[in-house]
Amino acid sequence: MFSKRIKIKDLLQSEAENQAVTVMGWVRSFRNNQFIALNDGSTNNNVQVVAELGKFDEQLLKRITPSASLKVTGLVIPSLGKGQKIEIKAEAIEVLGDSDPETYPLQLKNRPSLEYLREIAHLRFRTNTFGAVFRIRHTLAFAIHKFFNDKGFVYLHTPIITASDAEGAGEMFRVTTLPLENLPKNEDGSINFKEDFFGRSSNLTVSGQLEGELAATALGEIYTFGPTFRAENSNTPRHLAEFWMIEPEMAFYDLEDNMNLAEEFIKFLIRYTMEHNREDLLFLAQRLADEEKQLPQDKRSELGLMEKLDFVLNNAFERITYTEAIDILLQSPAYKKKKFQYPVEWGIDMQSEHERYLVEKHFKKPVIVTNYPAKIKAFYMRQNDDGKTVAAMDILAPGIGEIVGGSQREERLDRLEQRMKEMNVPSGELWWYLDTRRFGSVPHSGFGLGFERMVQFVTGMSNIRDAIPFPRTPKSVEF
Ligand code: 4AD
Ligand code: MG
Repeated sequence: MFSKRIKIKDLLQSEAENQAVTVMGWVRSFRNNQFIALNDGSTNNNVQVVAELGKFDEQLLKRITPSASLKVTGLVIPSLGKGQKIEIKAEAIEVLGDSDPETYPLQLKNRPSLEYLREIAHLRFRTNTFGAVFRIRHTLAFAIHKFFNDKGFVYLHTPIITASDAEGAGEMFRVTTLPLENLPKNEDGSINFKEDFFGRSSNLTVSGQLEGELAATALGEIYTFGPTFRAENSNTPRHLAEFWMIEPEMAFYDLEDNMNLAEEFIKFLIRYTMEHNREDLLFLAQRLADEEKQLPQDKRSELGLMEKLDFVLNNAFERITYTEAIDILLQSPAYKKKKFQYPVEWGIDMQSEHERYLVEKHFKKPVIVTNYPAKIKAFYMRQNDDGKTVAAMDILAPGIGEIVGGSQREERLDRLEQRMKEMNVPSGELWWYLDTRRFGSVPHSGFGLGFERMVQFVTGMSNIRDAIPFPRTPKSVEF
């Protein structure tokens, strides 16, 4: 019986006039005891269901409340109302599930704030905004697989539980089955992980890169797309404790090949979404424009969402070295007028305010910064001949900051071992990683794209908590 339903998206696109159809969905509004706006999640557009006056039982009509679920059968007719071509003249209405208007927390009339919607994230899917965001998130995920599949990359599943720290930054969530209230101890007082599930200390992965390199140096070109976890205590609109990352890794690629792939990839994702989710994007563009009207003039973006995406598609990303980036910052009016909160000098790990200056004020487009100081980057990056910098590349995007981090990898065993020693990365535990450099080592490169930051960029949502269905951030793990 349920298989007979037509999705509202298909119905609105079809020429079903004068046909009998069955639709099912949730009530968005009910006007004049007669006009039901019904939504089933296939599109932001509702179908109007007309319940002719006098035709239906009063008791039934009372149950048509916001978010009640309905099954409606009726005739498709041309609509007299504005904004829609067709509507459904109801023959039969069945309430599948009631929704008590007294306790239903989502009153769409008052435009609930995004902050409030985060508190009821289990219901926010029923708003137009999150319908659009999560349909686009789906499209992006699909487009990622399409992009790499079309290029012959192999989708590699890397482990979620590991015993290593791929980034060497120590921001890991521990995985254990040891009883916290009664930990087994060694004689020196330290925890005896031999008694733990894996017989040693383990954690959730911060990145699949190291395992990705193992596969890339045999299969040639691979990519991962999975959840990663970071226990960094960053309460910002760009950080999550659990986020998804796409990490391509390619043998026989140098830094420039790597940058070219990353730029092509980002542009492909934008183009694909513009082609497949135009309606959702237009809706979000309007939402963003409305939101920005509340901001002071100098905080508003110069471009609307659609113009921004078009602009990114049609212009080459700027490519500069880290040293050039620091020079630009030092020459900037912002620096001279002491507008930066954090210091600027060669060697700093650029703060968000610096990245945003470069991207939003100076170049006004995405920027790829290369050749960072070795001291502020991970152990696996290839050392440049100057003895100071590494073959790293970060892509900085307007409104987001860092969206991609990547590098050419150090393929020379002696150099890599020396670097690990300097940075206190335990080379004994990473014997398997070093084996790739022992047996047929090749130049290779890769990068990581933060999926939620990409969703933010495409949807224009300013907080990363609104780009993932169930955000995990410090002190927040509801749902
Ligand atoms: O720059 P990151 O730390 O690089 C890596 O993890 C490398 N192993 C990637 C590689 O070369 N294969 O992270 C990559 C990207 C960042 O540019 C950012 O977009 C995203 O992952 N990211 C986060 N997104 C949300 N919340 C966080 N806490 C994030 N940390 C990084
Ligand atoms: Mg990074």
